[in-house]
Amino acid sequence: MSDHEFGNVSTDLKLSLVEAYLRAFNTALRPQFSELWYIDAFAGTGERVIKQNATKADLLPGVKEKIERRRGSAQIALDIVPAFDRIVFMEKKKSYCLALERLKSQYPGRRIDIVRGDANVAIEAEIEAMKWVGKRAVMFLDPYGMAVNWSTLERIRKTEAIDVWYLVSLAGLFRQATKDPARMDEKKRAAITRMLGTDGWIEAWYNRPRKSDLLGEYDEAYQRVADVEAIEKFVYDRLRGLFPKVLPPKRLKNASGVPMFSLFLAISNPAGKAIGLATRIGNSIIKA
Ligand SMILES: C[S@@+](CC[C@H](N)C(=O)[O-])C[C@H]1O[C@@H](n2cnc3c(N)ncnc32)[C@H](O)[C@@H]1O
Repeated sequence: MSDHEFGNVSTDLKLSLVEAYLRAFNTALRPQFSELWYIDAFAGTGERVIKQNATKADLLPGVKEKIERRRGSAQIALDIVPAFDRIVFMEKKKSYCLALERLKSQYPGRRIDIVRGDANVAIEAEIEAMKWVGKRAVMFLDPYGMAVNWSTLERIRKTEAIDVWYLVSLAGLFRQATKDPARMDEKKRAAITRMLGTDGWIEAWYNRPRKSDLLGEYDEAYQRVADVEAIEKFVYDRLRGLFPKVLPPKRLKNASGVPMFSLFLAISNPAGKAIGLATRIGNSIIKA
């Protein structure tokens, strides 16, 4: 069973932004580079299944279950024209890797590598094994939660060749960084620190807010004072401290308008020309 059911209203938007960037990136760089790569570190299966549950008839007529299949990031990357010279899919789940193998078999002439395993380990191995001079790549980091280690971003930055689209789960960070710090266990704390590469978030997000009411002024209990805005800014500042250029993120919301994710574009190449091009393309897509 390799159906990959995921996503909400913002998933199509996320994928359309990345698709637009991939197309513009390849169009702009094709004449200058003979090696343009795409690395999808949380690749899925190549498609996304959207199920609409059946409803029973009552006052309104019932509806049958509806299954819709849309393209996932792996298929989108394969469809890009001008084409990538090499595509790497990384995926932890065995059945999803098998689905990716089936997808690969439909493109016999293409250089497609499928790596099964944890993305952090796979990225490290891929970066170590390759010479990056004269190559340019786009990487898509699209985890469900907080699976990307800061040390992985540091490795990517060092290549000076990879533009990264990184989906950061604001909802995940908000949930893990519980309002009451007593409810946060060591595992949660370590997961946030591993993702952000610092424990500075504790000082930045927690405090004793000063309150005044009829009883006078007093300090409330020590608690998370950072809202989604502040959490996003912290991530943005961390990324800006690492990469030569990071664009202001695109905020992705759920159907009720609640911010769920921030989609960042980080550029690892410090050359002015590379930054200029990626920024122009990225901004035109993010701000559209
Ligand atoms: C949000 S989905 C990615 C969807 C994909 N970008 C698409 O558009 O079809 C996240 C994927 O990452 C995989 N995954 C989860 N943890 C992982 C890890 N540590 N390393 C690699 N893949 C992982 C999941 O099995 C899942 O397929």
